Amino acid sequence: MKPVIVIGAGGHAAVIADALQAAGVNVLGFTDADPAKHQSKQCDLPVLGSDATVLAGSDRNDVLLANGVGGVKGTDVRRALQQRLQEEGWRFATVIHPTAIVSRHARIGNGAQLLAGSIVQALAAIGEGAIVNTAAVVEHDADVGDYVHVAPRALLCGAVTVGNYSHIGAGAVVRQGIRLGERTLVGAGAVVVKDFDGGGELVGMPARSSAEGIA
Ligand SMILES: CC(C)(COP(=O)(O)OP(=O)(O)OC[C@H]1O[C@@H](n2cnc3c(N)ncnc32)[C@H](O)[C@@H]1OP(=O)(O)O)[C@@H](O)C(=O)NCCC(=O)NCCS
Repeated sequence: MKPVIVIGAGGHAAVIADALQAAGVNVLGFTDADPAKHQSKQCDLPVLGSDATVLAGSDRNDVLLANGVGGVKGTDVRRALQQRLQEEGWRFATVIHPTAIVSRHARIGNGAQLLAGSIVQALAAIGEGAIVNTAAVVEHDADVGDYVHVAPRALLCGAVTVGNYSHIGAGAVVRQGIRLGERTLVGAGAVVVKDFDGGGELVGMPARSSAEGIA
């Protein structure tokens, strides 16, 4: 893989850089909007400068980008960032930590991130820019949409469908065959046993709709 610049320098960015390095990829450093961070180091890698400055000095043919923006509630910031840069001709690395178990019969979208200890089973599909975070499990035939964040230790049982831009909270369980529409926000620890149209929030066990949901 070509050398990678990680966009962002927060916690998720550190995890992404670490996963790439563990996979033997040359990570050049991070970008960050905050000038106070420039030239500092994180995980022994430099914060190179703002997105604009760093990308102006880089060649789209020589480097890949990695999306370092995470999200505990919404997926819009990371989606907007990646889509804008892709439209400008940049390509995003697909990040697979060497301890992730990924079936050869799974489909992994461009720029998806499968982090330490995650499992993606046969015939599952992971959308563009989606995150399968630490120790999360995506079972067989599940269909995870674009820019979805499956947070640490969440479990999507077989043939679950998760609409684009959704967030499945840490430790949540979604029962087999359940269909969640676009922009569903599942709270941490929820147990989802019914289909949901999306555009809202589900919490509790069994999960029930609450509040306005995802931004
Ligand atoms: C569901 C969630 C989005 C709500 O966040 P919020 O709007 O900031 O909610 P608050 O913390 O203000 O809590 C509002 C109410 O919901 C309850 N609540 C919050 N999260 C809950 C959850 N996961 N399950 C059940 N109830 C929850 C709170 O107890 C509180 O109840 P109260 O009004 O009776 O006191 C959030 O708690 C959550 O679970 N986010 C996912 C976190 C995650 O996946 N992190 C991983 C990042 S890598």
